[in-house]
Amino acid sequence: MTVNMASACGCGTPVPYACLQRGERVLDLGCGTGDDVAQAAALVGEAGHVFGLDKSLEMLQRAVENAAVRELANVSFLEGAIESIPLADGSIDVVISNCVINLSHSRPAALREARRVLAPGGRFLAADLLVAKAGLPSEMATNAALVLGCSNELWTAEHYAQELEDAGFNMVSVEVFARVPWRQLEAQAHKTGHAGLLGTLDPFVVHDALASALVRGCA
Ligand SMILES: C[S@@+](CC[C@H](N)C(=O)[O-])C[C@H]1O[C@@H](n2cnc3c(N)ncnc32)[C@H](O)[C@@H]1O
Repeated sequence: MTVNMASACGCGTPVPYACLQRGERVLDLGCGTGDDVAQAAALVGEAGHVFGLDKSLEMLQRAVENAAVRELANVSFLEGAIESIPLADGSIDVVISNCVINLSHSRPAALREARRVLAPGGRFLAADLLVAKAGLPSEMATNAALVLGCSNELWTAEHYAQELEDAGFNMVSVEVFARVPWRQLEAQAHKTGHAGLLGTLDPFVVHDALASALVRGCA
């Protein structure tokens, strides 16, 4: 049996930036097939625990199978929505997420829920997509996001930081680490079935206009 990584679809590598310590309790929002869960599990060790939350039973099934192949004893997978996390207040030390918040039908609710489950002093660290070019026409921003597989209008870094503060986080930061070039949009459009939208995008304008960012906050 081999680890199934067919769904690997994140937009970053949040785990190395989460500064995980042995014994910590971690929650991965939208865990997919559990690759970030596995990385986190190795860092928190036997005294720690990592929860993977996803709304898709198919993804969770693959995550459970992958965890068994990896012989992970300190992980659990939960079915549920990131807008209504099935965990108690203050029960988690670190919330991570890889390219999922942008998919939420209520991003403010997802951020409030992440803040609610964090213990005092807890940390939130997500990789996510955003708009990184000022003045990008809104129709082009919407269509470029659709091309990347995101049905929501993407936030700017400033908007994201404000939403984190509104959700109750302190010491927030939003740091772009990779922009999305035109060639990547072209390639992704075919994968997401939105090749028809490419004609609505001006390559010169949308080139490097969307980006992956590390989004941080403290409880
Ligand atoms: C882009 S994939 C990212 C998966 C994983 N984090 C990774 O980096 O490979 C999005 C995942 O988030 C899950 N997801 C999307 N919206 C969700 C929501 N509102 N609540 C829970 N899971 C969600 C999907 O089922 C899918 O597994």
